[in-house]
Amino acid sequence: MLTQMTLEEKIGQLVQFSVGIPTGPGNWNLKYDELVEHGQVGSLGNVVGAAEANHYQHLAVEKTRLHIPLLFGLDVIHGHRTTFPIPLAIAASWDPNEAEIVARTGAEEARADGVDWVYSPMVDIARDARWGRIVESNGEDPYLGSVMTRAWVQGYQQGDLSKPGSVAACVKHFAAYGGVIAGRDYNAVDMSPITLRQVYLQPYHAAVEAGVATVMSAFNSVNGVPASADPLLLTQILRKEWGFDGPVVSDWAAVHELLNHATAADGATAAHEALEAGLDIDLEGNLFGTTLAAQVRSGKIPESVVDEAVRRVLRVKFALGLFDHPYAQQEPKYEATPERRALARKVADETMVLLKNDPVTDAGPLLPLTKKATTVALIGPMADNAVEMLGAWSGKGNPEDVITLKAELEKRLGERLLYAEGCGLLSGKDANALKSIETRMPMSEALRMPIPDDDKTIAEAVETAKKADLAILALGEPAWMEGEASSRAYLGFTGSQEELLEAVVATGKPVILVVLAGRPLVLKWAAAHVPTILEAWSPGIEAGPAITDVLFGDVNPSGKLPASFPRAVGQEPLYYAQLPTGRPEHVDLTHMSWDSEKYVSRYVDEQNSALFPFGWGLSYTDFRFSKPTVSREEVPLDEVSTTVKPVVIVGADVTNIGSVAGTEVAQLYIRDTVASVEQPMRELKGFARVTLAPGETKHVEFPLGFNELSFYNVALKRTVEPTTYDVWVGGSSLADQEASFKVTE
Ligand code: BGC
Repeated sequence: MLTQMTLEEKIGQLVQFSVGIPTGPGNWNLKYDELVEHGQVGSLGNVVGAAEANHYQHLAVEKTRLHIPLLFGLDVIHGHRTTFPIPLAIAASWDPNEAEIVARTGAEEARADGVDWVYSPMVDIARDARWGRIVESNGEDPYLGSVMTRAWVQGYQQGDLSKPGSVAACVKHFAAYGGVIAGRDYNAVDMSPITLRQVYLQPYHAAVEAGVATVMSAFNSVNGVPASADPLLLTQILRKEWGFDGPVVSDWAAVHELLNHATAADGATAAHEALEAGLDIDLEGNLFGTTLAAQVRSGKIPESVVDEAVRRVLRVKFALGLFDHPYAQQEPKYEATPERRALARKVADETMVLLKNDPVTDAGPLLPLTKKATTVALIGPMADNAVEMLGAWSGKGNPEDVITLKAELEKRLGERLLYAEGCGLLSGKDANALKSIETRMPMSEALRMPIPDDDKTIAEAVETAKKADLAILALGEPAWMEGEASSRAYLGFTGSQEELLEAVVATGKPVILVVLAGRPLVLKWAAAHVPTILEAWSPGIEAGPAITDVLFGDVNPSGKLPASFPRAVGQEPLYYAQLPTGRPEHVDLTHMSWDSEKYVSRYVDEQNSALFPFGWGLSYTDFRFSKPTVSREEVPLDEVSTTVKPVVIVGADVTNIGSVAGTEVAQLYIRDTVASVEQPMRELKGFARVTLAPGETKHVEFPLGFNELSFYNVALKRTVEPTTYDVWVGGSSLADQEASFKVTE
């Protein structure tokens, strides 16, 4: 194929535009039909619906000289038409099967809509809750992130792109986008090469190992080099070390943004730098199409570099079977059928994290609610809010498909349900604040939201609460303040929601708080004053039924936090896998020459620890973990270094010591206690979901080998050194049942 192509035809394969979105850096007035007919684009974005896709495909296949089909790419993030919980919530299930179901369903629906390429999964490690895109991530941990990543890729691609209903996945954003300084979106990333490899690169590597078809480069720079033109990332690591042979697509206009990064003085240089670094498709930068041909003709860029990029693009088109079956089947009208609803509900059920459920009376904690309960006051701007349940990036999701919490509770409680909205998600005060900092896009959205008279509506909500036996507050953060370009400097409830919460708590009625948000919020006041808190994230179309399943105990919650919840914004970035310090918080000061406890690594005005740590999540039953066992107490270094097979098996018994069945996520953490490079105080290296009847015990085993035990040394080589490993098994990153084994010289 390549030998028959003209230079212009080749370059056309490396160009992508998004149909109908006139936001390219040049605001070009593009004529898509002509671009396709002239072979000047190889892929199109944001074409949704078989009819529209087939229109363009027809032009590509029938009107171009070589009949090369187009690829159609789209952001399918947590479902396509059927909106599932946000990715961060899915990570909270610690259940890769759930990620696979979401990807699989999204792929089938997208393919029927003419989309054969999805810009997902986003696997950027997110350790800073200020960064809005944490909502799209698997959270803070490379091990959990890698397990979930493999499942997303498998769900989209089924191991064979030519299978019906498969789509090409696109792992993004390569690399380290989650590490942006100060959690501010698009900002620079500056981190040690060791942290880059040991933490941030792991999930992308997992995606490549799982056979991901394409990669998207990141907007950010990493250690001074923009990721979209970084030969270290795009060629050395991705292709040479990991063996990836698919195409790398730029993020939106990222090639053009090399001008803003000020590493290229003009568009031609930007295109040259990106292509030579290993970037194959210019998405919306309009620089490959306009500058590469001349640079090849003048000898500046060898044609072989273009050829290689074209080969990568064509390979995906062949693998998808587009040369044989270029057209999408006309989709039946989408319907949220009972089958799809059942999937969405099952996934959402597993994502719920019970953060707190303290006993309030002798009768015990508030949850689960008894069926014959009492009169319930449902309060808050999230209680009957269909749009917000879809989350930050629901694509083609439809709010009309959402069952809200209010709708579902009405079904269960009838007249015994009282309702008050209490306040909006934003108040007049927010609108003014946003105006004063000249927020642009969000401001226009904010202004469209009704700004209620909060004092009055809060007073009404208080009266409603007084008439009930207990209050359920559904509070959170609007989805437009999450996702791309939505970093926050404050992490509390927005608007007057905190005031609403405080006013209802002040009535003395028992309060259950349901949090609906796409990032860890600061829940400090709530944690001190509200006995029961359920983190429900953005649950998707089955929001109401899934939350209600958990409230009534039809589903025993089993979710665990994939990201630490801070006590204060000032702790961010906050994550459990901290490196040691010479002045640990709880140091034994007896040998020190000073008598003050001040000079240790801690805040003078807040604790170091998370309010709710990584891995945290309660159940309606209790679990007990035995002390872990290790299959061997000593392992020779040679053995660990020369095999990828497990060398030690850590085992533990988990027992359900409560009175109802439940599922616990048994988590294995390890610490390499002495190494030539500082190692984290704890790292997750295994987990298993274990379902147990009351009184039942199951044994869990976690194999450890070179992959789990090694670290990157100063020469950036993965290595194991003689040491002692401490291991813990338990239900969160606070696991306290400990054992150890040695790796000997
Ligand atoms: C986002 C990507 C997305 C791309 C294409 C960008 O703004 O960062 O995640 O895939 O647009 O829509």
